[in-house]
Amino acid sequence: MNIVIFGVPGAGKGTQCKLLSERLGLVHISTGDLIRSEIAEKSEIGIKAENIINSGKLLDDITVFEIFSKKLHNSLQKRGVLFDGFPRTLKQAEMLDDLLVSMNMKLDHFIELMLTENESVSRILKRASIEGRTDDNPETVKSRFQEYTLKTAPIAGYYRKKGIGFSINGTGTVEEVYNRIVLALKI
Ligand code: AP5
Ligand code: MG
Repeated sequence: MNIVIFGVPGAGKGTQCKLLSERLGLVHISTGDLIRSEIAEKSEIGIKAENIINSGKLLDDITVFEIFSKKLHNSLQKRGVLFDGFPRTLKQAEMLDDLLVSMNMKLDHFIELMLTENESVSRILKRASIEGRTDDNPETVKSRFQEYTLKTAPIAGYYRKKGIGFSINGTGTVEEVYNRIVLALKI
């Protein structure tokens, strides 16, 4: 089973993917985490990405796709994939379609976690005091939301047209959101 978990910054994508990957034996691919690893390793991509991630902008499609597809190819022994934070532009969605076809795979579900900007920002700022992610400050968060609205939000329509997209209420406790997803997926 291959599932995209989608939503605004701080919607709970990573949190829910972790739980779902344990339950379903799926590999969890977060492009945000992959980029942060590149930054920590000070790789060529990481050096280029650091300023971009800290400004809240999206990395270019080609670079993200390169990191993503490498990880996907290395994950094929698993029972399926949870895509977290990818795709994030219509171009990435098209690139993902082509890649999956070439790998004889398909997307089964596109799940959008619905949360207001206010609630998401308050979750992110709470996390800032615990984890210290460098892009979790009010200025960068504002820019992350602008990028989301402009470039990422239209993807939901792309998948709805394909008939595989649905929305989940992202409010409430982690467990409440998780239970809604489990119910919707009938797993
Ligand atoms: P990324 O790391 O993907 O960040 P994001 O999309 O902004 O989302 P977050 O990771 O902040 O939130 P989340 O939805 O995973 O929520 P979480 O579960 O952590 O991307 C970062 C950057 O990388 C981008 O800005 C861009 O620069 C770059 N990038 C990444 N992918 C890219 C791509 N494809 N193309 C181009 N650039 C890309 O939850 C948030 C907090 O809330 C946590 O503290 C959590 O514990 C808490 N929480 C979760 N659920 C609940 C709940 N139900 N109740 C209370 N608290 C909760
Ligand atoms: Mg995340």
